[in-house]
Amino acid sequence: MGNTASGAAFCTAAQRYSYASLRLERVEWRGPGLVMVKYRVLSEGFPLVRPGQFILFWVPGLEAIPLSPLYSDEETMVFLVKERGETTRSIVKEPPRFAGAIGPQGRPAEPRGERIAVIAGGVGVASALPVARQASLEGSETLLIYGARSAAELAPIESYAGGSRIIYATEDGSKGLKGTVLDALDGLGVSGFASIYAAGPNPMLCALYKWAQRLGVLDKLFLAPERIIRCGMGFCGKCNIPGTELLLCRDGAYLAAPSLTRWVEKGCPVD
Ligand code: FES
Repeated sequence: MGNTASGAAFCTAAQRYSYASLRLERVEWRGPGLVMVKYRVLSEGFPLVRPGQFILFWVPGLEAIPLSPLYSDEETMVFLVKERGETTRSIVKEPPRFAGAIGPQGRPAEPRGERIAVIAGGVGVASALPVARQASLEGSETLLIYGARSAAELAPIESYAGGSRIIYATEDGSKGLKGTVLDALDGLGVSGFASIYAAGPNPMLCALYKWAQRLGVLDKLFLAPERIIRCGMGFCGKCNIPGTELLLCRDGAYLAAPSLTRWVEKGCPVD
């Protein structure tokens, strides 16, 4: 096992990034165009990746892509990866035996309150689950609503949920409630939730924004928009949220819904 001390890769006044080498421990699960993989962190001293943060996952011979670990501690990182392009396709097909991590990037989410709801659409659960786990471990009654098109696309996340109550929703009704995560949330009543965090496809986030606006609870909602990430370090401006000064890679992943009004008005674009 390597024991390379982590080195500071990039520094700003606010943030310090580190490197780590990762070694594949096992493939935990496969779904259609999806894989869940567990890596061992070989480098000592890599900072803990907090809920809401992400790393750049470097695939030898390809590129570094932003990934939120579904679970992470000093020794392991678990990732849920969905095929979207060349690099993710390669990971899903054959996860690299060795990979690199650069980070952490982004601003930690701080879910607080007696009752917290966390909404995850598809692979958005990789970003949402750590928020639910932290809230639950800190004593909040935490509800995680996890939705996908069908049961085959729902990753086995239970052992990483930290005591959160999980409600499943599938569009074809093959597991849990039949319908969308919004259908599931609608049936629960929102007045008791101190905050609602959501990660998933942008149309889902747009719908949640409008739902919260209608109910007058926009100030309780935090969204993790999907945007194209290029440098991942606040240099290039590619991940800017249209109509705002926000950079997703620096200020996200979770952003207060009222700050996203212009983005929603533009239809919640990815690019
Ligand atoms: S991806 Fe370059 S500034 Fe965010």
